[in-house]
Amino acid sequence: MEFHEVARLLEGIPYISAERGQQLYDFIIEGNVRDVLELGFAHGVSTCYMAAALDQQGAGKITTIDTVVARDREPNLDQLLERSGLGRYVHPVCPTVSWIGSTAGRRSAATCTS
Ligand SMILES: C[S@@+](CC[C@H](N)C(=O)[O-])C[C@H]1O[C@@H](n2cnc3c(N)ncnc32)[C@H](O)[C@@H]1O
Repeated sequence: MEFHEVARLLEGIPYISAERGQQLYDFIIEGNVRDVLELGFAHGVSTCYMAAALDQQGAGKITTIDTVVARDREPNLDQLLERSGLGRYVHPVCPTVSWIGSTAGRRSAATCTS
C-alpha cells in the first residue's frame, strides 16, 4: 500500500504522527525489513504504517504486543487492520497475568484477535 493511502486512513488517530509514520515506512522499504517486533500498538497506527510498507514490498510479518485493554480503544487495532486490509501482515499478542491459588503466579501470552 502506498504511504499516502495509509496516511489518509490514519488521519487524526493517535499516536504516531504522519511524519514519524513516513520514517517507519521508509525504514522498512529501504532496509527490506521482513520481521518486526513492536512493543505497544495502542490504536494500531504505527502498526498500520509498518504493515503498509510490508505490503508494498510484498512480504513480511509484524508481531505487536500491548495490554488486553488496548482492544477497548476506539478505534482499535483490529478495526484499523480491517479498514486498511493489512491484517495478514500483523500478529497481535496481549500478555495476560493470571493467579492460580494464593501463592503461585503464571504469565501467559494470548493472541488478541479471535
Ligand atoms: C505511546 S503508546 C504506543 C503508540 C503506538 N506505537 C503508535 O505509534 O501509534 C504506548 C503503548 O504501550 C503499551 N504498553 C506500555 N507498557 C506495556 C506493557 N508492560 N505491556 C504491554 N503494553 C504496554 C500501552 O498500553 C500503550 O498502548
